[in-house]
Amino acid sequence: MKATPDVSETPTASGLDGLVVAHTALSDVDGEQGRLVIRGYAVEDLVARATFEDVCGLMWDGAFPPAEAREKMRAALARAREQAFALVPGLGDALDAADGMEALRAATGHVRATGDATDRVQLTGAIGVFAAAWAGKQAGHAPVAPSPSLSHAADILRMIDDAAASPARVKALDAYLCCVVDHGMNASTFTARVVASTGSDLVSAVVAAIGALKGPLHGGAPGPVLDMLDAIGTRERARPWLEGEINARRRIMGMGHRIYRVRDPRAAALERAASEFEQSGAATDRLTMARHVEREAEQLLAERHPDRPLKANVEFYTAVLLEAAGIPRTSFSPMFAASRVAGWCAHVEEQRQVGRLIRPASKYVGP
Ligand SMILES: CC(C)(COP(=O)(O)OP(=O)(O)OC[C@H]1O[C@@H](n2cnc3c(N)ncnc32)[C@H](O)[C@@H]1OP(=O)(O)O)[C@@H](O)C(=O)NCCC(=O)NCCS
Repeated sequence: MKATPDVSETPTASGLDGLVVAHTALSDVDGEQGRLVIRGYAVEDLVARATFEDVCGLMWDGAFPPAEAREKMRAALARAREQAFALVPGLGDALDAADGMEALRAATGHVRATGDATDRVQLTGAIGVFAAAWAGKQAGHAPVAPSPSLSHAADILRMIDDAAASPARVKALDAYLCCVVDHGMNASTFTARVVASTGSDLVSAVVAAIGALKGPLHGGAPGPVLDMLDAIGTRERARPWLEGEINARRRIMGMGHRIYRVRDPRAAALERAASEFEQSGAATDRLTMARHVEREAEQLLAERHPDRPLKANVEFYTAVLLEAAGIPRTSFSPMFAASRVAGWCAHVEEQRQVGRLIRPASKYVGP
């Protein structure tokens, strides 16, 4: 019997990390400077000034929608939510899945692709509705019909809670949705582009991307960040708790990034949004505690890995902001998908313009 060939060297030793697989006009991640530019705008500006509807216009049409088009986008998304809600009775047991991303993957497969530009609006509306319906079911109530007069963020919160959300919560969720809409050639975006490159339809590309985002190495850290803050409990316990984890060679959730060598700019943008939420009068001590834990973790990781900067990533303050917005932690990944779907759709369109099959090679090491 021959020894099993070693394929573990593949990802980094062969130089696949950082390999350019597409030219894109959608977003750029500068890991050294800690900058994320989306269609020419710094991510922190989008989070501070835009709504999710604006960002959809930016991603899909390349510019912020003017006032009239803004209303049109809001109405189109509202219509898409209503059409998606009409699919809910026919989703079978999709929304009964114990995992929100599994529910989303199964439910999204029910959207019918038409092949024209309405598909992206349809899918963006649908993921918001299905994510909210799943969260609502977890909370013990039947899926709540969307309201056409609300913004996407406000309606998602209302469908989750079966009650209107405060303006501060809506602003918090909207800030999050604007922040994570796109991030270079991440795993789920690449997945969507590979599917699109075969000539397949947008629904297939988005379902595949949901599958990629479901993995804990991609979209799954903010829930564990809250678990960590809960486990630490008090300021005094932060340092010994973190030391214990690092000594046991476990990873500190929400810290470190494959690309960023400085603090993830999205962490700063979301921290600011969480701080604004607190200033609106709805203060909790979560943010103060999170900042303290971040400082301690950064210091300890710098001592342990002096050559490898490990700073807060997007997930750290996603946890704080989404909790403030009233999103249950089991729904953090579905909320990620509710935003990123707009980015996936833009990438699929861009990939279609390239019109070439993505077909990388592998190196044979077998017998
Ligand atoms: C995001 C992440 C997967 C990037 O990993 P990566 O680029 O593959 O990093 P590496 O595996 O090269 O890590 C280099 C070293 O830093 C350590 N390290 C990296 N992130 C760490 C963390 N969050 N906590 C503790 N140690 C960490 C690794 O253990 C490794 O140490 P070693 O060389 O002694 O084995 C990683 O930082 C991580 O697991 N973070 C926590 C999970 C998380 O927040 N994910 C969301 C990302 S947006």
